[in-house]
Amino acid sequence: MNLNITCIPGDGIGPEIVAEAKKVLNRAGEKYGFYPDFTDILMGGASIDVHGVPLTEEAVAVAKAADAVLMGSIGGDTTTSPWYKLPPQNRPEAGLLKIRKELNLFANLRPALLYKELAAACPLKEEISAAGFDIMIMRELTGGLYFGERSTVVEGGIRKATDTLTYDENEIRRIAIKGFEIALKRKRKVTSVDKANVLDSSRLWRKVVEEVAEHYPEVTLEHMLVDNCAMQLVKNPAQFDVILTENMFGDILSDEASMVTGSIGMLASASLNDTKFGLYEPSHGSAPDIAGKNIANPIATILSAAMMLRFSFDLDEAAGAMEAAVKQILAEGYRTGDIMSDGCKQVSCSEMGSLIAERI
Ligand code: IPM
Ligand code: MG
Repeated sequence: MNLNITCIPGDGIGPEIVAEAKKVLNRAGEKYGFYPDFTDILMGGASIDVHGVPLTEEAVAVAKAADAVLMGSIGGDTTTSPWYKLPPQNRPEAGLLKIRKELNLFANLRPALLYKELAAACPLKEEISAAGFDIMIMRELTGGLYFGERSTVVEGGIRKATDTLTYDENEIRRIAIKGFEIALKRKRKVTSVDKANVLDSSRLWRKVVEEVAEHYPEVTLEHMLVDNCAMQLVKNPAQFDVILTENMFGDILSDEASMVTGSIGMLASASLNDTKFGLYEPSHGSAPDIAGKNIANPIATILSAAMMLRFSFDLDEAAGAMEAAVKQILAEGYRTGDIMSDGCKQVSCSEMGSLIAERI
């Protein structure tokens, strides 16, 4: 079986971590009888440097023709990189927003879980971290403030900027359905997060989520205001199973949730449309400060590749083997610098990739 995979190494540590994920996928393929056929495309700063734009139409066409996309990370230091002197629509992030929209990747799954082996890195009080947590953030990814009309004008000598937040019921319904479907495979609880005490878009969100919930009587639904959710994530993260929310709230809450795990270098993510197609990437960014030093943690990208095998290719056994290999090397005490602790063995990015590949 041939897997047609488009890779976006991107910027910063992206190329290093994607190389390790390819290594592990190749090994899993040997063992489980599939052949990953990788085609690289440029996106973000890497594309700006060559083509002057963060994503070309040709690159989009390559991604569209693939079965799945595996991405590293894009972007650079926003204060020093020349990419950020360009107009906003030509900066690295615009490439990411464009590919999300072009591929209709409306459902962004961001797991935030506390690894037993890394519990010491969790910044929460011990009585909170002891309970453990395993949260799936379902973030709407192609609507809301990110894609609404915006403008910057000068009116009567006063500068004025506007962004608009719009959702229609279809956009809300399709992400809600994904959220409830995922909850069925987990602890069967959905916390829908909004700002319904202020925003019309949130009031519609709440109504549509309730309508969808009627079709999932096995799943418990609760509503939570976004400010309260930000607080609850540090106070009692164990209460959450699936957090279902709109684009901007999900952007902010997923960073918070990943940080409280203490090991953001471990967290994968998937962005899906309504077919088997998906874009898979680590939850962390491009870490330009450590790029090219072979010290980044490739585990989040390797786990994203495992998610890809599971969601896009139904290769559950191979995905499970990749995840088990990650757990095994952690249990054996191997760590990259970001998750290093006393008594463990520190390894480089490429050594970590090789160790994981060898354990499959
Ligand atoms: C993310 C990132 C992006 C977002 C940026 C880079 C545009 O923060 O994937 O969470 O805001 O969606
Ligand atoms: Mg973000």
